[in-house]
Amino acid sequence: MLTTTLLAVLLSHGQAKATITVDTGRPGIRISPDLYGIFFEEINCGGDGGLYAEMVRNRSFEDDPKEPVHWIASTTGSMELDHENGVSAGDPTSLKMTIHPNEGSFSATNEGYWGIPLRKGARYRFSFYARSVEPNRQVEVHLLDSASAPAGGKTIAIGQTWKEYATILTSDRDDPKGALSISSHEAGTMWIDMVSLFPEDTFKNRQNGLRRDLAQKLADLHPSFMRFPGGCWVEGDTMAFSQRWKQTIGDLKDRRTQYDLWQYMSTNGLGFHEYLQLCEDIGAAPLFVINVGMSHHGVVPLDQMDPYVQDALDAIEYANGPVTSKWGTMRAANGHPGSFHLKYLEIGNENGGPNYDARYPLIAKAVKARYPDIHLIANVWGGYPTGPLTEIVDEHYYSNPQFFFDNADKYDHYDRKGPQVYVGEYACTEGCGQGNLIAAVSEAAFMTGMERNSDVVRMCSYAPLFANVEHKTWNPDLINFDNHRSLGTPSYYVQQMFSTNRGDVILPTSVRVEGVRRSEFPHGSIGVGTWGTQAEFKDIEVTVGGKTTKASLSPGAGKWEAKDGVYAQSGPDEPSLASAPVEGETYTLTLKARKTGGREGFLIYAGMSDPKTWIWWNVGGWGNRQDALERSVGGSKGLLGRSLNGSVETGRWYDVKIEYSPERIKCYLDGKLIHDETAPEPKPLDVVASRVDKTGEVILKIVNTSDAPISTTLKGLPAGVSGTRITLTSASPADENTLDDPMHVSPKTSSFTGPDFTFPAYSVTILRCRA
Ligand code: AHR
Repeated sequence: MLTTTLLAVLLSHGQAKATITVDTGRPGIRISPDLYGIFFEEINCGGDGGLYAEMVRNRSFEDDPKEPVHWIASTTGSMELDHENGVSAGDPTSLKMTIHPNEGSFSATNEGYWGIPLRKGARYRFSFYARSVEPNRQVEVHLLDSASAPAGGKTIAIGQTWKEYATILTSDRDDPKGALSISSHEAGTMWIDMVSLFPEDTFKNRQNGLRRDLAQKLADLHPSFMRFPGGCWVEGDTMAFSQRWKQTIGDLKDRRTQYDLWQYMSTNGLGFHEYLQLCEDIGAAPLFVINVGMSHHGVVPLDQMDPYVQDALDAIEYANGPVTSKWGTMRAANGHPGSFHLKYLEIGNENGGPNYDARYPLIAKAVKARYPDIHLIANVWGGYPTGPLTEIVDEHYYSNPQFFFDNADKYDHYDRKGPQVYVGEYACTEGCGQGNLIAAVSEAAFMTGMERNSDVVRMCSYAPLFANVEHKTWNPDLINFDNHRSLGTPSYYVQQMFSTNRGDVILPTSVRVEGVRRSEFPHGSIGVGTWGTQAEFKDIEVTVGGKTTKASLSPGAGKWEAKDGVYAQSGPDEPSLASAPVEGETYTLTLKARKTGGREGFLIYAGMSDPKTWIWWNVGGWGNRQDALERSVGGSKGLLGRSLNGSVETGRWYDVKIEYSPERIKCYLDGKLIHDETAPEPKPLDVVASRVDKTGEVILKIVNTSDAPISTTLKGLPAGVSGTRITLTSASPADENTLDDPMHVSPKTSSFTGPDFTFPAYSVTILRCRA
């Protein structure tokens, strides 16, 4: 069911007509060359089990101290973890295999990341460390198909001390659900560690490389920058699990296998060096995020921050320093003598408050003193550290389509005197399926605003980037994949359309749309309720057309009791609700409300047309700190207007009044007008225009956020203007791409001759022409 269509602008079918006027003679602000980038995080098995092409899961036997997870033993012989006999200090555990006399061969089989995908004729680089009690033991290594039949193998003779062995295995068949087995016949004992299998065919053919299809999808976005490694992954749940880049470089066996708060183990095989290499390979400037001594549940004492400051300095030296420097030498030893040109350093992720304000300057000062050219990014998390060291701030937006439609002009009114903005994470996360068209259209609308205001918005990146469909802990994501297929969501194509069609300077535009119905607030019932809070309500009256009646409420969620005209809610529900229908669309609701316990204030519902579509006045919401009108459409909730500071005192009766009509809502507390919101003027087209310096081409990005096509005349360009048109749309706003039909919603390119166009319902269009 698609509830989100209700969120977009509803037009009277086919009646809307628009004029877009481009002012080519009055170029405006210059567009930041780094506006469109990407954000990678180790989330959803996006790296391990995804972009990082390693096919063996739990290769170092460090994933679980109790058992060799993802490895299956044959019925003969036995295997166990050996915590005393790892191949290196960084990899202390190995797998001990015991082959009993007269039992036949023993095998340990790795199931990979939801199967090892085999392609007929494809070559795979196998390697492992091994040792045996018996000299010159013959070990068989096999690719297996899904029926456990050998699909290609080799025999390797191993000796009595740890040594790395490598060979090429070639698959003789196609099977996406293959496996890798290691077996030996001779009775006795052997150990294996760091068992690895990579396709030879990786992105740019690199060893320890990346899955070609997934990395190519990144390259095809032509990102200006790439943020890495997160996200919450930078912070970790506790400091013990935070990201420290020095544990992610050098020999793979020495890297830390680490628990990821997104619920899996990471090899750190796609580490700092591989990230920098990928940036170079796809032409993106590196934006590295360093831990600021803060995790989700822990903070490093201020007097112990030196190693974190040093980490930041050393990361820059590793990326950019001369080969004569300590970390530059290391980079060269790891295969890259030249600089990686690290450009941006973000200090922390989603950190804020006094702890962040105290730690940010420690790193910022040290970095600026040694590397004045590195651009620093500070987190916005309930504010940001102010002062000369704050150059760029990182804002995050995850919300519903309506939020992105409503905020397409957010940056038109932004403070030009403050720091520049990096919208480091944004995505439509409600009503979006697994990534559908309406989500993409809403993001596109928001992006027109960021581009138009790119003097303020220097950079932006959608988040998250990747999801393995077998381990999705966050939805939606830009690129979904399984172990051998991948797809770009409609949002992916929006990112690509915007990023590959960039101008250098904004051209002012004006948009006029006629024949658009004004949107209306819903109507139905009124109600009272709370969020994790206990409260009483009385004297609840509704006046319709001059006639006042006492409302008789029916209890919904919560623990309600009605006594002497007082409705008391004593449950912990989030939210609770008692409601009554209202005859009429325009009315005045008055009542008295008193908080008796709990964390917040109270909720006054109005215009509830169904349990998922309503408006409530949240008095003392957000931990009893703010006050706002919120609107839910089909279960997607967002702010209606602005939130204000405000809290509710326990034990005090408040007078509440709401004047409600389809066009306007006025809310009064103790007689004082607090909110006055008018149903928004529908704005079905969001537009941004730019010009390319070199070629003089004009690029228009036009987003139709409505449910009907809009016939549009383009003015300001020569009569009969012609060029290329790229359109992203689909039959339904709920349409998605799937692994079986990955291009269902994808851009179509054609040529056009202006000035008259029709922009389909829920569509994103790029027009490129010479003016
Ligand atoms: O993008 C997913 C997560 O959202 C990131 O880890 C975090 O920064 C944000 O909360």
